[in-house]
Amino acid sequence: MKTIFEPFKIKMVEPIPILTAAERQAAIKTANFNLFTLPADTVTFDFLTDSGTSAMSSAQWAAMLLGDESYAGSTSYQRFQRTIQNLTGLEHVIPTHQGRSAEALLCQALLKPGQRVLGNTQFDTTRANIESAGGISIDLPDPANKNTQAEDPFKGNVDLHALKQELEDRSSEVAFFVMTVTNNSVGGQPVSMENLRTTRQILADYRIPLFIDCARFAENAYFIKTRELGYAAKSIPSIVSEMFSYADGALMSAKKDAFANIGGFLALKDARLAEDVRRRMVITEGFPTYGGLAGRDLEAIATGLDEIQDESYLSYRIKSVDYFGRGLEEAGLKVVKPLGGHAVYIDAKASVPHLAAAQFPAQALAVALYETIGLRGVEVGSLMFGHKDEVSGEEIPAPQELVRLAFPRRVYTQSHIDAIIEGAHEMARTLDQLPGYRIVEQAKFLRHFTAKLDRQDCEVQS
Ligand code: F0G
Repeated sequence: MKTIFEPFKIKMVEPIPILTAAERQAAIKTANFNLFTLPADTVTFDFLTDSGTSAMSSAQWAAMLLGDESYAGSTSYQRFQRTIQNLTGLEHVIPTHQGRSAEALLCQALLKPGQRVLGNTQFDTTRANIESAGGISIDLPDPANKNTQAEDPFKGNVDLHALKQELEDRSSEVAFFVMTVTNNSVGGQPVSMENLRTTRQILADYRIPLFIDCARFAENAYFIKTRELGYAAKSIPSIVSEMFSYADGALMSAKKDAFANIGGFLALKDARLAEDVRRRMVITEGFPTYGGLAGRDLEAIATGLDEIQDESYLSYRIKSVDYFGRGLEEAGLKVVKPLGGHAVYIDAKASVPHLAAAQFPAQALAVALYETIGLRGVEVGSLMFGHKDEVSGEEIPAPQELVRLAFPRRVYTQSHIDAIIEGAHEMARTLDQLPGYRIVEQAKFLRHFTAKLDRQDCEVQS
């Protein structure tokens, strides 16, 4: 069937704010042209993140009522533990209040200052936790992802050649490896089973443990099924099992592929490491059978982890993101290929070439999407990753200028997507006249969250 339809019906609704163009222009000006500063009730379509923004199912809400709030050893923990043991094959299951606390606990337990952590590309919080434990984060992404237009099916892979080289040169300094599936920092692109398997083999020779950051494990499994030779006839749960069979541990932000609004976990093979983490976590996260969560949250996550492996849901999700990306392309925007995953990434360098990096082209596009459509995305370009040179005071731009439009799960329907595409066609008519921006005020770290910007006069280069 050509029509993409949601494999669910809606039992509860929440109105979305609908503003006039003048109201949106006033709101973004008051927010100093920073989408993070916008109050949510001024946003019609909120695609800022797919994290913690999912709509839970009736089964998840029902399970929450069964939440056992006992401080220690609750039945909800037992169910959570069983579900994750079955999913990952990893015996020791530790709940955490979200993904980054699992990262912090792992880094504190495993990393010594000066040690290196390798990966296909660490997510920002993972890198921050590695660095805050005194470690060095080394990203080894597959060079295929440099070309945003190449249709390579597994651009999230680790560069195996670079990995071997790194290990030949300094394996004794490496504490562990993290494979992030899908690879959020490189456009949400997937990792192939072959890449995961080979990475495991290479690391085994050096006895270096492999952890999977499995925030979006089910989406990655669906890509393996649909894009990798030999997996078409396999079920999603069996692909998921194989993925985890290569891991010594897994970290998860359950705010993504567990349809939960909060939560996470660390699952480990090694009993001694698990014991160490459990001792540490009591100080900050809570007792090891609730880890900063309520019993009802553990129930919602356990139910969500089963639901996410439903192939009809995954097929709808990936097709819907693909449809959205194609629609934006037809409207005249350049998007990162191949499409699919948790987000569509617009390539601002290619879409608004009249703006130089110093004029924050991706931010210009993100603001225009809000002003025209009421759509909130996030700039992943020089505002987020550029910085001021300490000596010269000059702006050093980021390698890519992207706008990420991340899809909350089960929240927006196909007609919302059609409405956004219609708006994008309208916006595209004035793309070549979009004004640039300059930073008026910024913090030293993570400036994109709080920076104040102002609009420049439109200077179109001929
Ligand atoms: N790992 C990955 C791959 C992530 O995408 C995120 C969060 C985390 C870890 C951290 O998890 O937020 O629960 O502490 N990503 C969100 C995003 C914030 O918008 O992509 P957390």
